[in-house]
Amino acid sequence: MNIFITGTDTGVGKTFVTSLIAQHFRSDGLDVGVMKPISTGPANENDAVWLKKTLQLDDPIDLINPISLKHPLAPYPAATMDNRQLTMSPIFKAYKKLCKLHDMILVEGIGGVLVPITKNYFVADMIKDFGLPTIIVARAKLGTINHTLLTIAALKKRKIPILGVIINGYTGKELAEKTNAQMISKFGKVPILAKILWQKR
Ligand SMILES: Nc1ncnc2c1ncn2[C@@H]1O[C@H](COP(=O)(O)OP(=O)(O)OP(=O)(O)O)[C@@H](O)[C@H]1O
Ligand SMILES: [Mg+2]
Repeated sequence: MNIFITGTDTGVGKTFVTSLIAQHFRSDGLDVGVMKPISTGPANENDAVWLKKTLQLDDPIDLINPISLKHPLAPYPAATMDNRQLTMSPIFKAYKKLCKLHDMILVEGIGGVLVPITKNYFVADMIKDFGLPTIIVARAKLGTINHTLLTIAALKKRKIPILGVIINGYTGKELAEKTNAQMISKFGKVPILAKILWQKR
């Protein structure tokens, strides 16, 4: 099964969690590949580069990341700033190739689900076109119930299957950490697949 890893926001840990999920399925003996359809910001330090290195993948970087935009913005404004209009065909072509090379592909989203890719196409529309079930990565902090329920609502509106939520970055220091998982599963009616500690480095 291939999975789309989305999140409640940028910086919530989608890339970090994608690498953990890849390692999890690898330990079951699967050959797991990854994809970051669109990256924005410096190309030498983007998510695709990090995932390729961390997971020691042989796939060429432009297969893992077919669209790279230099401005550190959402794809639509980043492309507009460069007078570009994005089309999805390079993404789905690369995805098809990757599917032939691996048993399983994890596709990392861009920011959250209502990030614009073109003037009338959002990340949620892209997830729908991939036809993949999702995992939502959410923060452990105060505010995460609202962000996660909004994300669930946007996915459900498009009838996109949700496998569950992974809550990332528990510190043991915040009161909200004691209640957020229970609240998200109660109101969002989705399973909490994992709770991940903030790893000190
Ligand atoms: N559980 C964790 N413990 C320690 N560091 C973490 C953890 N989760 C994420 N990080 C760090 O937090 C930062 C943001 O995480 P990450 O890049 O995975 O977020 P993201 O959701 O993929 O962001 P983007 O929207 O830019 O793709 C990174 O430096 C990452 O290494
Ligand atoms: Mg990322």
